Amino acid sequence: MKNFEIVSKRRLADNVCEYEIYAPYVTKHCLAGQFVILRTDEDGERVPFTICDYSREKGTVCILVQEVGYTTLKLSQMQVGETLADFVGPLGNATDLSEYKRVCLVGGGIGTAVIYPQAKQLFAEGKSVDVIIGARNKSLLMYTDEMSATSDNLYLITDDGSNGKKGFVTDMLKELVDGGKQYDCVFAVGPLPMMRAVCALTRELGIKTVISMNSLMVDGTGMCGCCRLTVGGKTKYACIDGPEFDGREVDFEEAIARSRIYRTHEQAHLCNLRG
Ligand SMILES: Cc1cc2nc3c(=O)[nH]c(=O)nc-3n(C[C@H](O)[C@H](O)[C@H](O)COP(=O)(O)OP(=O)(O)OC[C@H]3O[C@@H](n4cnc5c(N)ncnc54)[C@H](O)[C@@H]3O)c2cc1C
Ligand code: FES
Repeated sequence: MKNFEIVSKRRLADNVCEYEIYAPYVTKHCLAGQFVILRTDEDGERVPFTICDYSREKGTVCILVQEVGYTTLKLSQMQVGETLADFVGPLGNATDLSEYKRVCLVGGGIGTAVIYPQAKQLFAEGKSVDVIIGARNKSLLMYTDEMSATSDNLYLITDDGSNGKKGFVTDMLKELVDGGKQYDCVFAVGPLPMMRAVCALTRELGIKTVISMNSLMVDGTGMCGCCRLTVGGKTKYACIDGPEFDGREVDFEEAIARSRIYRTHEQAHLCNLRG
């Protein structure tokens, strides 16, 4: 097998595929919470993806990719047997939820890719694990079987009520806590506005909250400054200080504004790919 070869590919939702990539140097050291940066070809952009699962025996890493722009669309056009130009990692810090006994994991959309390895690890350690997965509609819910097998309780919620309850992940979390559930920590991953809403709620509820920031990145090694954030009034870099942070300390307004900096360029880039 060649380095960075696509070993398998599976469509999980309308715009999400799971890829298994042969990358033994990454699997040798990787841990839950870390990410890789890949390029599809020599001229490609460097884009970060969470290590969703891995097998040290097979030397493979699984990533879940939502098609949102140029590179993710290009990746979706690649087939099993083709190879990526590079696949660098593991990058960032591993998650450390070891001090918590009752954890609620909250995944919004593709954020499910990030919470799955955490659920797997916490559940294997015998911790109490509740999982809430939210999506716009049922066709965008993913990893429900996997999550069900690695949690005590799985709660599904969709914006339109097409699967599970109707509403947002925050509605579900509030309902659970109001109903008597007690959590030492909430680990929430999804779009920035979703993580901001979860943190606003957990601030009220007084629950420690960890989030994973999906900032724009270039080098992934702390050199370029692209992934800069303000956390607790201090400058941090998502790639080397994160990607996980205490969500109640993150300046979300700044992070949301920075995530939109290149929107016009990204749209023009996508037009080129679609011809
Ligand atoms: C540490 C980390 C882990 C990530 N893990 C995953 C993952 O497991 N699965 C996954 O599908 N995506 C993940 N992302 C987001 C992913 O990197 C972006 O979706 C990707 O870079 C978009 O590239 P593109 O060329 O297809 O789109 P672009 O043309 O670059 O952008 C298209 C649209 O996507 C938005 N976008 C661009 N970059 C990001 C970003 N970093 N985060 C969120 N939105 C972005 C743009 O604002 C724009 O609206 C992660 C990001 C980080 C920083
Ligand atoms: S991606 Fe360059 S500093 Fe983080």
